[in-house]
Amino acid sequence: MNLTDRPEWQALQTHSLQIKDAHLRDLFAADAGRGVSFSLQAVDILADYSKNLITDETLELLFKLARATQVEDMRRAMFAGEKINTTENRAVLHTALRHQSDEPVMTDGHDVMPEVRAVLQKMADFSNQIRSGQWLGHSGKPIKNIINIGIGGSDLGPVMATEALKYYSQRDLNVQFVSNVDATQLIEVTRGLDPAETLFIIASKTFTTDETMTNATSARQWVLEALGDESAVAKHFVAVSTNSEKVREFGIDTTNMFEFWDWVGGRYSMTSAIGLPIMVAIGPDNFQQLLEGFYAMDEHFKTAPLEQNLPVILALLSVWYGNFFGAESEVILPYDQYLHRFAAYFQQGNMESNGKSVTKDGQVVNYHTGPVIWGEPGTNGQHAFYQLLHQGTRLIPADFIGFAQPLNGLGNHHRKLTANLLAQTQGLAFGKTAAEVRADGVAEALVPHRTFPGNRPSNTILLPKLTPKTLGQLVALYEHKIFVQGVIWNINSFDQWGVELGKVLAQGLVSQLKTGQPSDQNDSSTNNLLATIQRWSSTPAEPDAALS
Ligand code: F6P
Repeated sequence: MNLTDRPEWQALQTHSLQIKDAHLRDLFAADAGRGVSFSLQAVDILADYSKNLITDETLELLFKLARATQVEDMRRAMFAGEKINTTENRAVLHTALRHQSDEPVMTDGHDVMPEVRAVLQKMADFSNQIRSGQWLGHSGKPIKNIINIGIGGSDLGPVMATEALKYYSQRDLNVQFVSNVDATQLIEVTRGLDPAETLFIIASKTFTTDETMTNATSARQWVLEALGDESAVAKHFVAVSTNSEKVREFGIDTTNMFEFWDWVGGRYSMTSAIGLPIMVAIGPDNFQQLLEGFYAMDEHFKTAPLEQNLPVILALLSVWYGNFFGAESEVILPYDQYLHRFAAYFQQGNMESNGKSVTKDGQVVNYHTGPVIWGEPGTNGQHAFYQLLHQGTRLIPADFIGFAQPLNGLGNHHRKLTANLLAQTQGLAFGKTAAEVRADGVAEALVPHRTFPGNRPSNTILLPKLTPKTLGQLVALYEHKIFVQGVIWNINSFDQWGVELGKVLAQGLVSQLKTGQPSDQNDSSTNNLLATIQRWSSTPAEPDAALS
């Protein structure tokens, strides 16, 4: 049945019209226990979702929708290793990567756990060798710089987690990331580094991604120009991939390859060998803590009834605003500087997963799917875009993420940081009425400008302290939220065909830029732009060059 024809959907439609006139001020005034009753702790995470435009009835109707759309059965199917990524005929088993019990994890009649554990052991051995200075470069120097070359899921998770867990990292190791095909990033990251002390991790699930292969080839040149010998590659390059053939073709010995599998989606691969730079930075013990955190949230998601299931609740709230209130985006606001790449990470996580407009069986949807995800760490955003959150015309549900304990205690910084987080959630929810503004003695002409409508929803996601374990819980929480959203919208959250067209078009344009000969198939806009680039270019075209 089409989603919007479901009685559960239509009941929510009717209910949303009733609730549109409610104000959070009144909902809180009517129920002194609202803050507690609309809060839920799962493992170490407390989510307060009381500052949302919901009542008990809203939640009941949302849970009915989740049941009707088979969230429970799809959850079972994912953990059971069924091929729920139907367009790629693959299982979706990132939960196996952090599985901690002795139970097997099966897909295709095969327990994946022995290979998962073997790769983790290989990663730990490698990380220990780098961290202890035992891994020597081609000229006998220990490695000081680790540069991960990868993009998308082979970059954003490691970047986010390495930054998030910097406090726990070995500070004399310089772990850096290169993703953009813009040479500037590779050049700036390697500037001043000694190739003899530098090791590259080439991270690519497919080992065919053009940006990564281009950067890897230039990195190899940089190493070989300095060290002068092909045999240096073995000491300065390792690969993380599912594609051993391509790794070998590139010239990396597969003994220096860390494997993962097609049942790990790129944007869900942080706990696979793709997490190697994280492990090098924080060490195998901390990485194990990270996995345990993920596992704890996986277990919560797998076993808790929908009504007490945090990822389910967050997903339903997102559906509530996106489908019944016209919210176009969601903002993620971590009040912790170490989480400064968290929103960027879940930009890919959510938008590549749920940015779909056909259902699993190929029908065009008549409802909105994935929201735009964005965000910056607090308090910076407050002095930039919060104006629009408070007084703009758009409804933008916000997730505030905070920690009770600071990692870097300094004076009263943390108290101020936390006070700002709480203040923003209050301000958004309750606003400031015109009467309150007038009571402050504000001139009448300014009253409308200084009034805050409030009624702007937010979740407050509170954790005791940022540790590898709590980070794992937090990331798994968002991963499963994305999964539940996709199930409700009846889309495949695990493919990404939408990135393919641009890749193919770019290939043709590389040739045209090289030869200076635009294709007669081009549109007039592209031809005009190509001609202008040609005129302004500092590199002469190579009209006779083979098209490559
Ligand atoms: O182009 C999109 C994408 O396929 C992402 O899904 C993926 O995370 C990224 O490219 C990198 O892919 P790979 O790890 O195969 O290089």
